Amino acid sequence: MKFFIDTANLDQIKEAQDLGILDGVTTNPSLMAKEGITGHENIKQHYVDICNITVNGDVSAEVIATDFEGMVSEGEALAQLHPNIVVKIPMTKDGVKALKYFSDKGIKTNCTLIFSAGQALLAAKAGASYVSPFVGRLDDISTDGLGLIAQIRLIYDNYLYDTEILAASVRHPMHIIECAEIGADVMTGPLSAITALLKHPLTDIGLEKFLADYAKGNS
Ligand code: G3P
Repeated sequence: MKFFIDTANLDQIKEAQDLGILDGVTTNPSLMAKEGITGHENIKQHYVDICNITVNGDVSAEVIATDFEGMVSEGEALAQLHPNIVVKIPMTKDGVKALKYFSDKGIKTNCTLIFSAGQALLAAKAGASYVSPFVGRLDDISTDGLGLIAQIRLIYDNYLYDTEILAASVRHPMHIIECAEIGADVMTGPLSAITALLKHPLTDIGLEKFLADYAKGNS
């Protein structure tokens, strides 16, 4: 399973990259705003800065336009910023048309705001490179987010769709582990959820004892 980090924070992206496990980055307008990145040109420069950190990974850059023509012109400009850019398109009727347009042109896309299997099926048929079902936001409304990942996995496997399932709105380490069990192609989450995978109290206790025993034998 590929690991993407879901942030526009350059320090956190660098930290994940330095760990050696980073396959890509997802952002959205809310994450950009959280980092204080505003204005069209600053946002575009920030995407380039992110691409320059994640040397070999896909970086999702989201369109703001909601009409087909606007999505196309904005998406084409974003795609030209860097070879690693993936144009992020919302799941709407115009969005589906834009997915097909970019797919025909060989430009990679990530269809965002996926909350149902039907939406994921449409995105795959339109040729999306990735679909982003929002696991955490479904859990927030007492709906089974990971169940949706499993449902999409089954559908895509039935018809051998190339579209990759990018489990988004991942909030904690159990989301990551269960996404891996289900067979999501990619998960994107905060650095805290990724580094939480490192932790086990028996590892800490075991290391402490190894070091103490070594010190006894070498004092
Ligand atoms: O990748 C989608 C993500 O940014 C949404 O996460 O935690 O705001 O639901 P969250």
